[in-house]
Amino acid sequence: MCGIIGTLLAEGSVVEGILEGLRLLEYRGYDSAGVAVLDKKGISIRRKAGRIEHLAAALAGGALSGAKAGIGHTRWATHGAPSDTNAHPHTDTEGRVAIVHNGIFENYAELRAELSTAGVVFKSETDTEVLAHLIGRELARGVELGAAVLHSLRRVKGYYAVAVLSQDHDQPRLFCARSGPPLAVAVTKTGAYLASDVLALIPHTREIVFIEDGDVAELEIGKVTVRNLDGKVIDRKARRVEWDPEEAGKGTYPHYMLKEIHEQPDVLARTAFDRIREAKGDVEFDTAGWDDTELKTIERVEIMACGTALHAGYIARYLIEGLARVPVECDYASEFRYRDPVLAGNTMALAISQSGETADTLAALRLAKELGAHTAAICNVNGSTLVREAQRVILTNAGPEIGVASTKAFVAQITAAYLLALRIGRARGTISKEQGQELVDELRVLRPKMEQLLGETAVKAVRGIAERHQNAKGFLFLGRGINFPVALEGALKLKEISYVHAEGYAAGEMKHGPIALIEPSMSIVALNAIGPLADKMRSNIEQVRARGGKVILIGSDEGSVQLADEHVKVPECSEWLSPILNVIPLQLLSYSIALLKGCDIDKPRNLAKSVTVE
Ligand code: F6R
Repeated sequence: MCGIIGTLLAEGSVVEGILEGLRLLEYRGYDSAGVAVLDKKGISIRRKAGRIEHLAAALAGGALSGAKAGIGHTRWATHGAPSDTNAHPHTDTEGRVAIVHNGIFENYAELRAELSTAGVVFKSETDTEVLAHLIGRELARGVELGAAVLHSLRRVKGYYAVAVLSQDHDQPRLFCARSGPPLAVAVTKTGAYLASDVLALIPHTREIVFIEDGDVAELEIGKVTVRNLDGKVIDRKARRVEWDPEEAGKGTYPHYMLKEIHEQPDVLARTAFDRIREAKGDVEFDTAGWDDTELKTIERVEIMACGTALHAGYIARYLIEGLARVPVECDYASEFRYRDPVLAGNTMALAISQSGETADTLAALRLAKELGAHTAAICNVNGSTLVREAQRVILTNAGPEIGVASTKAFVAQITAAYLLALRIGRARGTISKEQGQELVDELRVLRPKMEQLLGETAVKAVRGIAERHQNAKGFLFLGRGINFPVALEGALKLKEISYVHAEGYAAGEMKHGPIALIEPSMSIVALNAIGPLADKMRSNIEQVRARGGKVILIGSDEGSVQLADEHVKVPECSEWLSPILNVIPLQLLSYSIALLKGCDIDKPRNLAKSVTVE
């Protein structure tokens, strides 16, 4: 969950570019940061607990400037508290090798004991430092640097992406290796770059080489050589990544989260509109595996995901079962992978993930594959591990999502799931051409309705609600049917960015326990769309009010609006697409409450965007 970066330049100085890259990777972890550069004097390091800006302050005035090789790190602590000494990079005793690391060396305790017995004195509490010492000891025995790196990597076990900086005959050498977490490299005529995320590479070039598990790459100006751990050269082709570096900026918005919320109407269009085939009442994906023959035989869909993506998965369950009439299961990826699941019949295992790098989601999909399922992915990052491993892929095209709290990726995932349900339904004949045309039309008319919810009136209404409820003891989000997962998502957003306790519940379950929580100091957010469950939801709202609960209604059902104490009226739309509209005021509500509370919206405490460890 840390961010790693490395640069070699033919001319100029690396430190400024590494800092820029770290700022782009900071969403991956932000409890400390550091840089190591290499010049004629050897390796020099600066490390600081806290945000990148603390490190930038330590580098102000030209410190470390002038070096043409360097590595950097932004940390999400696993071993050892966030402190200057535990911040990366770490070095061997002689200071000949510097390492940055994302992940965990699972056998580090054993290696640390062995190295300590051999006289090595450790300077940090991290697992990372063992690799620096292993390489250092090989060098001390006269082993050539490349061989020392390979030998040492063969000794560490676990889940890691590392970058190693050292020198040989006065020449800087930069290596990176992967066993799990993401890693990509890019070379130009004047430089060579490695990073945990393509975001930090696309300012240099869009031709990216994705490093695979078991790969060890050596970077040179204009060239990358990839080997396996036994030293055999492997051919890894560059892929073109179409993201625009400008998209990674905040634009005129104060926070990435707000910018990303406002991008959602465009995201809907980018995910859906090019794929719609109106005349056929169908959709077409530009990737293989989605033809009638391939989809007709599917007997079951098993969805696996985490967090917000899991909530999109729950919505996908309603869509695929409701529209395509195929049975669907949906589970936390972290539970699926350890519950010894049974996959009967011809199952499509569908992983949903923004990053495509979430450790549990990847492990769940791999397990499903082992159990005989056909694998599929809905994912936002082309070239990610998930996209490379899944047999069928739908890219969500939401563009880079930088705010740690996921917003636009969620809307894109629901949109992709709607398209998928339509495609499966058309392939299996459960949706007629005419019905398909109606479903497609509903999607087309959604964009202006989303824009309406992002307009001044609606935003102001949400801000007012946030002001009146910011000090509530807690929040209960209630929804039914396809809006039940939206209630879960509303509660998650509020918890993660404003640290207010919130729960999402299926409204029909309320009287089986959570109704005991209802009192005037508890804020109740009820979701209701027009559809067969609207009456039932109205009864639930009545039950809340009868117990003194104050109801904030988000939805288009006029009857519910009348019952509520406050509301944000959502434009009418098909119930299948109502989650896309209903979630917008919820995202804005959590944003506004977090803002009023002075929270760090884009970098909530303890979180990291891409959860690449278990
Ligand atoms: C919440 C959030 C997380 C992610 C989860 C899965 O706002 O961002 O819950 O949704 O960590 O991440 P991906 O989608 O990258 O697999």
